[in-house]
Amino acid sequence: MRLLENNIQSYDFYIEKENMREEIVKGLSAPVKTISSKYLYDHRGSELFEMITELEEYYPTRTEMKIFNEKIQEITMAVGDVHTLIEYGSGSSNKIKALLHNFASLKEYVPIDISRDFLFQSSLELAMQFPHITIKAVCGDYTGPLTLPLEAKGKKVIFFPGSTIGNFEPVEVRNFLMKSAKLLDEGDGFLIGVDMKKDSEILEKAYDDGKGITAAFNLNLLTRMNRELGANFNEEQFEHLAYYNKEKGRIEMHLESQCDQRVNIGDHEFSFREGETIHTENSYKYSIDQFQTLAMECGFEPSKVWTDDEEKFSVHYLKK
Ligand code: SAH
Ligand code: AVI
Repeated sequence: MRLLENNIQSYDFYIEKENMREEIVKGLSAPVKTISSKYLYDHRGSELFEMITELEEYYPTRTEMKIFNEKIQEITMAVGDVHTLIEYGSGSSNKIKALLHNFASLKEYVPIDISRDFLFQSSLELAMQFPHITIKAVCGDYTGPLTLPLEAKGKKVIFFPGSTIGNFEPVEVRNFLMKSAKLLDEGDGFLIGVDMKKDSEILEKAYDDGKGITAAFNLNLLTRMNRELGANFNEEQFEHLAYYNKEKGRIEMHLESQCDQRVNIGDHEFSFREGETIHTENSYKYSIDQFQTLAMECGFEPSKVWTDDEEKFSVHYLKK
């Protein structure tokens, strides 16, 4: 634990290199080459994601913010006298900034993210803006075992905006929700943003924008592997691919090889056929009923749900 300002502590539980090499080599050795979407977020990846949130085509961020702004009174009522707020995948912490003014009872904010510099920088800014709140910035992988530095008192609420829950696979999402339920006590809550099913044309544009920012975000994974793992991917020989898989209810992002080629990561060699892809992200979309059923099966009671007028995005408040 390190103390950065009077009201901020940082906890670093993340050792990326060894885990990353092992996981990526395993994923690229499988019959369908796959890399976990968590590796999209090095510092550049986080910057590119922030740019995505401002794109015309990428409706989730502004739609969720609109729901937060318009329903803030009801959200504040639902959340009640919260003492500790835990945020998974806090990124730039922009969304919590919009809410913190309204959570008067809040004493402790615990942002968790894998993107270290981004997390610590945004936490520092927040600490200066909200000197009465203790900020415990945790750099770690929330899919792995994490012991959070929580004060054992008062009401706890988990905040998980942005529909990052959609990036989990069906089995992972259940494990994650059940693990989250275990962290909470009776009466604690979970405030979560969930993107909804909609016309595939709107979805596909959101993940393949005209300016090519999402393509750069996806391709940056190759640059990251070259830099951090000593790989020799030629970024020019791969293309960003995004499409809606209706049967599975998810957007899929891939990197498609443009020719037959071989790539090395250290001693490991991988061969690609022209048109073969690396599957880099899934983004599942949920109807309200579907998400509430899932939440109930994992130990939560759906308490409130808010959507925008066009029912593009939903914000759920679940009670343990
Ligand atoms: N909450 C923000 C950012 C969403 S982007 C928003 O709503 O706009 C997803 C964030 O989750 C990124 O900041 C990324 O670094 C983080 N993240 C992704 N996988 C993670 C993991 N396994 N563990 C911890 N953080 C992760
Ligand atoms: C962080 N996550 C919810 C984003 C999404 O929409 O699935 C990541 C993203 N990928 C491409 N664009 C945005």
